Amino acid sequence: MSVAHDLDPPGELSAELSPNDLEAFWLPFTPNRAFKKKPRLIARAKDMHYYTPDGRAVLDATAGLWCCNAGHAREPIVEAIQAQAAELDFAPSFQFAHPKAFALSTRLAMMAPGDLDHVFFCNSGSEAADTALKIALAYWNIQGKGSKTRLIGRERGYHGVGFGGISVGGIVNNRKFFGGLLTGTDHLPHTYNRAEQAYCRGEPDWGAHLADELDRLAALHDPSTIAAVIVEPMAGSTGVLPPPKGYLKRLRELCDTHGILLVFDEVITAFGRLGFATAAERYGVVPDMITFAKGVTSGAVPLGGVIVRKPIYDAFMNGPEHAIELFHGYTYSAHPMAIAAGLATLDVYRDEGLFERARDLETDWADAAMGLKGKRHVADIRTIGLVAGIDLDSRDGAVGARAYEAMETAFGDYGMMIRITGDTIALSPPLTVSRDQIGEIFDTLAKVLEGLA
Ligand SMILES: Cc1ncc(COP(=O)(O)O)c(C=O)c1O
Repeated sequence: MSVAHDLDPPGELSAELSPNDLEAFWLPFTPNRAFKKKPRLIARAKDMHYYTPDGRAVLDATAGLWCCNAGHAREPIVEAIQAQAAELDFAPSFQFAHPKAFALSTRLAMMAPGDLDHVFFCNSGSEAADTALKIALAYWNIQGKGSKTRLIGRERGYHGVGFGGISVGGIVNNRKFFGGLLTGTDHLPHTYNRAEQAYCRGEPDWGAHLADELDRLAALHDPSTIAAVIVEPMAGSTGVLPPPKGYLKRLRELCDTHGILLVFDEVITAFGRLGFATAAERYGVVPDMITFAKGVTSGAVPLGGVIVRKPIYDAFMNGPEHAIELFHGYTYSAHPMAIAAGLATLDVYRDEGLFERARDLETDWADAAMGLKGKRHVADIRTIGLVAGIDLDSRDGAVGARAYEAMETAFGDYGMMIRITGDTIALSPPLTVSRDQIGEIFDTLAKVLEGLA
């Protein structure tokens, strides 16, 4: 075997990539062999569209991966990143810091409800979830309540792919291959019941009582062993499950009763996806921590973080002043490029009123989505904010195959990007989507479904 390294690129990437050129990249959460036989390549993007290497426009009905809420390659964000790259490429956040990290923290603290006033930066939603769980454990530990270690998530929950996140998460395939996971976790039941909730716009009436399962878990384990509950206010990755009316309030009450921290994983829901800065704001419920990522930079540079309530931060600010209070952090926590992108993105959201825009569009979006009711293969539709989940009936013995084909057809034949999970299609366009484009998204999807076996 040769040990020589060849750092020369194989040539300009083009639409004519040969199978060998595609071999080395192991795509995440993708059937690699199927993809490499029939690749879906994206070369550039602008506003509401992606473009393939041969210049075909693809309407983005998913904001990339739930993240490009301001649309693509927006000038103010691009310029801020370019300027930052030239001004300060990297500064460590361990023992040093650059001024803009404080500026973005302050703006995020102002955006978050209540006394959620302190921000810990990382680089992704997965890191944000694990960071929140670690802060919860350390918070109890430093107060002499080291027995409070149990972490409670929810069935069908998604909190990224770190060991903490998959342990409290509830998506079977994300867990079953990876051994024993974290010990000392448990799960609330998920909140979906088709018989009670089918074709629901917004929050379903049925299901608030499922929060009471926390009482049962508290009785089983004893509150003295439970550190935190983590839930997505709207479960996104599992296929769009809006919270039942009153569910999150009830969860907050029960966490207070039992002395358990409540974490909202807002990696998808923050930054306007539900028509508000945060889902916490939409639902009038103040959690103890909010995790965020994705929309904070409109997907332009990786950035994530956790916003924590003041009493949690204050609890750590004890002991000698020269001593580190939390033994946690990432080399790229508060990376200058990400911070610059974040500041510019928040400006775009504010200047263009994009959160309010999402709120204004919610009814039209829901009307258009519900127009698919009765179409071929459609088994249920759920909408909330600028999100829609469309369940398709599965083919016998081939769960996910029909939705996969829908995604391929939408991209290849109709120039539209959709996202799938199992046989659910999840739509979440940039908040800049026009009413015409909303119509286009669902008209196109109707055609795609019509042609599916
Ligand atoms: C609620 C939630 N938490 C965490 C994550 C993980 O984020 P990342 O892929 O940036 O690690 C996601 C990603 O979709 C998410 O939806």
